[in-house]
Amino acid sequence: MWFLSFIKTSIGKKLVMATSGLLLLSFLAIHAFGNAAIYMGSKYFQIYADFLHGFPVLVLIFGFGLLLIFLAHVGVGLLLFFEKRKTSSRYDVETRVVENTFASRTMPYTGAWIFVFLIVHVFAFNFGKPEGVKVSMLVQQYFSGFFYSLFYIISFIALAIHLNHGFWSMLQTFGLNHPRYNKLISTLTVAVPLIFLVIFGGIPIYFMTGSAAGY
Ligand code: HEM
Repeated sequence: MWFLSFIKTSIGKKLVMATSGLLLLSFLAIHAFGNAAIYMGSKYFQIYADFLHGFPVLVLIFGFGLLLIFLAHVGVGLLLFFEKRKTSSRYDVETRVVENTFASRTMPYTGAWIFVFLIVHVFAFNFGKPEGVKVSMLVQQYFSGFFYSLFYIISFIALAIHLNHGFWSMLQTFGLNHPRYNKLISTLTVAVPLIFLVIFGGIPIYFMTGSAAGY
């Protein structure tokens, strides 16, 4: 199959990681934007959730597409992890730009944590969602639990660390490493994960600290 031959090459693997990463990042941006309605109150968050569910076929196609992209990202990521362990080189491109930071060294581990988080999260809000409970109320119920909220906060920190290197690496693969843009790129590699950390992480904190009293 053409895809298998493609990912055998190092540029193929890099492109799969960068393209799937970009698509997952776009999903995160939409998800963060939608979830930010929580800060406006349960009524608005419910309107948003009901709006989404007004397009069941689209939601199904979108969910299936997202799963495929996620599996490609995890699958090729695992391939790189085991190749690196064998050869101690992530991509066998001699001229590659290497970044050796805490975020780059921990990519497989933050990735694995996000994987576990996603199983818990999708089960809680999709497959395991109790019948008849509105999603706006479910969010409040879940985040009233200290350990549930703590697990989410730790997961968002792992996500921010993963994005810090992932975003940089994606830009390198797409060839965006001109000296003229490097200052902007290093600002973005910090700003983008931080924005997600603040929007997502703020939600459990909002419920934990009692700021959501009028939710
Ligand atoms: C506090 C932060 C978050 C909240 C409150 C939240 C809330 C939700 C809710 C309510 C749903 C169900 C949507 C529906 O079908 O009505 C959902 C689905 C989902 N969430 Fe989150 N989410 C958060 C963070 C995240 C993060 C950080 C990720 C990714 C790393 C993520 C990935 C997903 C995925 C993959 C789905 C399933 C999408 C689908 O069914 O198409 N979520 N989330």
